[in-house]
Amino acid sequence: MKRVLLVGNGAREHVIAETLKRSPQGCELFVYGAANNPGIKALSSQYKVGTLSDFDELQAFAREVKTDFAFIGPDNPIADGAADKLLEIGIPSVGPLMVLAQLESSKSFTRDLLKKYGIPGNPLFKIFTDMEGVESFIHELGDEYVVKADGLMGGKGVKVSGTHLGSVEEGLAYARECLEAAGRVVIEEKLVGEEFSLMSFVDGAHVVDMPTVQDHKRAFDGDLGPNTGGMGTYSDADHSLPFLTPEDLKAAHEITVQVAAALQKEVGKTYKGIMYGGFMAVRDGIRLIEYNARFGDPEALNVLSLFKGDFIALCEGIISGNLDKVSFEFERKATVVKYVVPEGYPDAPKKGEKISVSEVPKGVKMYYGSVDAREDGLYLSGSRAIGFVGMGESLAEAEQAAERAIATVKGPVFHRKDIGTSALIQKRVDHMKVLRNL
Ligand code: AMP
Ligand code: GLY
Repeated sequence: MKRVLLVGNGAREHVIAETLKRSPQGCELFVYGAANNPGIKALSSQYKVGTLSDFDELQAFAREVKTDFAFIGPDNPIADGAADKLLEIGIPSVGPLMVLAQLESSKSFTRDLLKKYGIPGNPLFKIFTDMEGVESFIHELGDEYVVKADGLMGGKGVKVSGTHLGSVEEGLAYARECLEAAGRVVIEEKLVGEEFSLMSFVDGAHVVDMPTVQDHKRAFDGDLGPNTGGMGTYSDADHSLPFLTPEDLKAAHEITVQVAAALQKEVGKTYKGIMYGGFMAVRDGIRLIEYNARFGDPEALNVLSLFKGDFIALCEGIISGNLDKVSFEFERKATVVKYVVPEGYPDAPKKGEKISVSEVPKGVKMYYGSVDAREDGLYLSGSRAIGFVGMGESLAEAEQAAERAIATVKGPVFHRKDIGTSALIQKRVDHMKVLRNL
């Protein structure tokens, strides 16, 4: 029986917990989370509610429960060095050390890394430490540009011309704001295309990809409304996406392989965890939007629902650098994840209101996110509440399964009905066809 410390308390961590518990080795789970997650709690031997950024408290809990390893779910503790703090007391983690986590926490670090090591995938970009030259670079890009704050901003640090920035003046003002906050700002070419997430397990020497997933960041149907953490995702039975070519996937994989090697050279330490590339398929190939140093949420729900094998052995393979010796696979099924979120999410979400879910139909999995379980039922905590994973032989089947499950949810919530539908997927396919003149 292996003992595992899991850090985090969202739906992503719920599916990680479940996948760990499915290991044939047996798993005793110890959880350090910012809030109670009823789904994770039911799977754990001990569940400590603490502050994710309080590493003294985390270390004290880790010392007490003495696990074989830790799995760190969310971006913030990874960026702040939770893996370093746990290693200090002898606990290795799936989740990179702080210096390696800059891959996600610093946009300029990653852009510079690709440039320095000649790795393809960067858009045109420049990093500025003052306003000198910002305006002329924006004009060089034809006033089609993106301004990126240099730090973890919960997905809200990126502003795109035309979408969030109505004029060059607004762009300059935002660049100034980013400089004041972090001393650095990245300005880059605005890419046009279709985004996809390719997550890979990385042990330093080996990179093993998971099925490709597409996320939906906007809150409302038709890709309207404010950006969110992700309202839902889909992945197809062939582990690719309907608008991607095999060459696109190969190119994305190759970038991750080269970035893992470059990281080792650059910082002299080995990356152990997940590298999640946010890529965009564009007119003439693919580009890298960003890396995350963790599982995506909800992307983890898609891929781990398909995982067949011993996830503990996989984690141990990541930690020991023997990922190539671990055998596992992902079922060849389509998945559609839809998050049920509070009315008003993300700007003014309802909190503390009761919701209920009837029995989840066959072919659907349910993972708890931001919900509070009280004696008389489930209550909304303000963020993405429950993730439903529909599975099937086709995307249409998976989409309908997710909808059937969501129909049983009662309360002041909404979800995106269009995620995974053939109409929306066809739109993506047509968009790529137009861009690539097919
Ligand atoms: P990021 O935090 O880097 O993932 O950026 C958030 C979102 O901004 C991405 O998911 C894209 O939709 C958009 N974005 C980021 N960089 C670019 C770019 N160079 N061109 C167009 N859109 C971008
Ligand atoms: N699904 C987006 C993210 O996890 O960052």
